[in-house]
Amino acid sequence: NDIEKGTYPYYMLKEINDQPTVMRRIVKEYTKQNGSVVIEPEIVEKIKASDRVYIIACGTSYNAGWVGKALIEKMAQIPVEVHLSSEFGYNMPLLSKNPFFIFLSQSGETADSRQVLVQTNRLGYPSLTLTNVAGSTLSREADYTLLLLAGPEIAVASTKAYTAQIAVLAIVAKAIGDASGNEQSEKFDIAHELSVIASIMETIIDEKATIDQLVTEYLSDTRNAFYIGRGVDYYVSMEASLKLKEISYIQAEGFAAGELKHGTIALIEKGTPVFGVITDKKTAAHTRGNLKEVESRGAHNFVISLASLSKESDQLVLPDVHSLLTPLVSVVPTQLIAYFATLQRGYDVDKPRNLAKSVTVE
Ligand code: G6P
Repeated sequence: NDIEKGTYPYYMLKEINDQPTVMRRIVKEYTKQNGSVVIEPEIVEKIKASDRVYIIACGTSYNAGWVGKALIEKMAQIPVEVHLSSEFGYNMPLLSKNPFFIFLSQSGETADSRQVLVQTNRLGYPSLTLTNVAGSTLSREADYTLLLLAGPEIAVASTKAYTAQIAVLAIVAKAIGDASGNEQSEKFDIAHELSVIASIMETIIDEKATIDQLVTEYLSDTRNAFYIGRGVDYYVSMEASLKLKEISYIQAEGFAAGELKHGTIALIEKGTPVFGVITDKKTAAHTRGNLKEVESRGAHNFVISLASLSKESDQLVLPDVHSLLTPLVSVVPTQLIAYFATLQRGYDVDKPRNLAKSVTVE
């Protein structure tokens, strides 16, 4: 039963736990036995025919959009821009000749995103909404809709909608890549890889007690924290720090690992927790270098790495997954970190102060 908490103390924990099931549901709905993906051909054609994709979103959906950019650019070879709805609507950048708009919205009701869609509709540009809610405003008003199939998300802090957005964006990217004869896309057995990820998510979630312990050690008396990474590890860092801020009220910043030294490193003091996310072979050594830099200034480093890139001293080592989909596993421990940090501080995990699940004012 999707909207019952059951034996879970909080919806957020239930929704973190739902993620493997959601991955399997997405595989079932969006892929075929032969490994190909199933998406309305018209959507694929329209995106393929565009010269640039604009992803428009807010909050956690915006963070998922960055991972979507990496996926679409790699598999479909179409340039992608990611924009905050509340900025894009009032300061629209110069657009390409044939833009295609993707709106990411768990609720499908976010006013900031809707005001952009109203404008792009007026301008006659094609659009697709990825949403968890069938029949929502953004779904009705866009040309096309793909559902996230995450089941109702009740906790204010979004978890399973983020991973569902990434999985469905990967499906979209592969559909376009396959239709364009892209080799990397054709070789990518997404149904298999997402099923592997579902099982790995389960093993990470089973490590809850370890994460709870580590949180006590790293976050119990801190006011601030950093998440750093490069590329998709940076994008996950943005989401990981948003999660921590939203519910535990620890001031956290997700930072591009290489940029830290150009100013923000001034904030590192003795004991400042710095979480390093390392899932990309290309950038692992550089991010480790940046972790050394902060460590020598007193930071309390916490490394989350993939097994093949891990060091013995790393705090959390995750099983390897396909390189295109690492955010789907690296984000899970960061959700649990935010969850336990909040519990340990005695706050209501599901109902953080000042926040609403869906914001219908601009
Ligand atoms: C609100 C929520 C966030 C969410 C954002 C976008 O601010 O508190 O968790 O990410 O809206 O919501 P959407 O439904 O458009 O994805």
